[in-house]
Amino acid sequence: MRAFSNIKKLEMSHEGFGSKIGAIAAAAGSAVGLGNIWRFPYVTGENGGAAFLLVYIAFTLIIALPVLMSEFAIGRTTGKPVTDAFRSLAPKGKWYLIGFSGVVCAFVILSFYNVVAGWTLYYTYLSITGALNNLSPAEVTQTFNNTLSDPATCIIWMLVMMGMTGYVVARGVSEGIEKYSKILMPILLVLIILICVRSLSLDTENKGIKFLLSPDFSKLTPRALVEALGQAFFSLSLGMGTMTTYGAYISKKQNLAKCATSVAIIDFMVAFLAGLMIFPCAFAFGVNPGSGPGLVFETLPNVFNQMPMGQVMAIGFFTLLVVAAVTSSISILEVLASYFMTKLNIGRKRATVFSILLSIGFGIGCSVFPTMLDFFDNLSANILLPLGAFFIILFVPLKVGPERMRNEMEAHGGKFTLFPCYYFLAKYIVPWAILFIFISKILPWLGINAF
Ligand code: PHE
Repeated sequence: MRAFSNIKKLEMSHEGFGSKIGAIAAAAGSAVGLGNIWRFPYVTGENGGAAFLLVYIAFTLIIALPVLMSEFAIGRTTGKPVTDAFRSLAPKGKWYLIGFSGVVCAFVILSFYNVVAGWTLYYTYLSITGALNNLSPAEVTQTFNNTLSDPATCIIWMLVMMGMTGYVVARGVSEGIEKYSKILMPILLVLIILICVRSLSLDTENKGIKFLLSPDFSKLTPRALVEALGQAFFSLSLGMGTMTTYGAYISKKQNLAKCATSVAIIDFMVAFLAGLMIFPCAFAFGVNPGSGPGLVFETLPNVFNQMPMGQVMAIGFFTLLVVAAVTSSISILEVLASYFMTKLNIGRKRATVFSILLSIGFGIGCSVFPTMLDFFDNLSANILLPLGAFFIILFVPLKVGPERMRNEMEAHGGKFTLFPCYYFLAKYIVPWAILFIFISKILPWLGINAF
């Protein structure tokens, strides 16, 4: 029995990405998702636009990128899934709880994420049937509201999404996750650029561009700072062990710093393009850019209705939104599946099914109560992920140390000349920045007006 369980563990620890492009595509596939195309525009819209964008860029570079590098390195140096990775680096103490909270967070995100992904799948179906053709902007908004108030539709499409995600994860790391990411990510990029160009051409008064590019710093409230940080973590899939798990699959030949930087650049580019795609047409069709989670679903169908071959574009766009969601959703499911594979000593397929079944309950809750979806969205991005990232980054100086970190980051992949800079940020800036931003959010809740 023991020998058998060791074989299972060995099987899992031998899984990995086959190439550099594959590793970047998979990690970028995790990062680029609904967070970029659905979440980024509405959070940016709600927080005033350009000033928020600048803070978001700064946080991505100074706070999120060091966390991403650390997660990759912790995963690769141990070659283990979340809880075991932290436990094997710090056998004493409660550090393994970082991995455990990652697993809990994965449940929370997976359940609401697949509901939104289900909407994108439903919209793909609506585009194929032509149901979105020739609708007025008011009818487009009405269609979205009808979707939200129909739990059965939301549940069915959420289940289909979970099934597709499960199919890829069950196929394994290189045959599932890597293979599909490599095919789908480039197509997504091309489509976003095409739609961006069309959307920009509708913005005759450049209102959308101004909204995204001319900052008004008076709109930067402490809430906006927390949201920017939360968005940076959510978008780069940080703070819950996704990138730690993927780090374990990256070959020792890869330079982790380069890999992380490429992922952050791709992720930012897609979010920025999504902004360029959505704000111009939001202004062109009189949709409030801060109109919340419905923004993408209420603006883009109008653009497609104005385009030659609009229906084809709509099918392409929503299909690729589905694809972006699937590549992210598989990375969340992978955290759960790899955890249950080692904890319960079961094979990949069973662990995948088990994880999906556990998260379906929450998914149904989010389909029936949109407020629960909003709550989970906020809870994960603004509280769970930043807290997870805080402990992960504390772990680096306290339990891993500069030498081991440097060795891992460089491994066989060449020098990381900015290592001192990374380590300085990781040790002295990132934890305090997260804490400061967090406290600035919590104080007003407690009735203290410090800012
Ligand atoms: N980064 C993904 C997105 O932008 C969401 C995600 C969050 C994935 C956390 C994994 C972990 O859509």
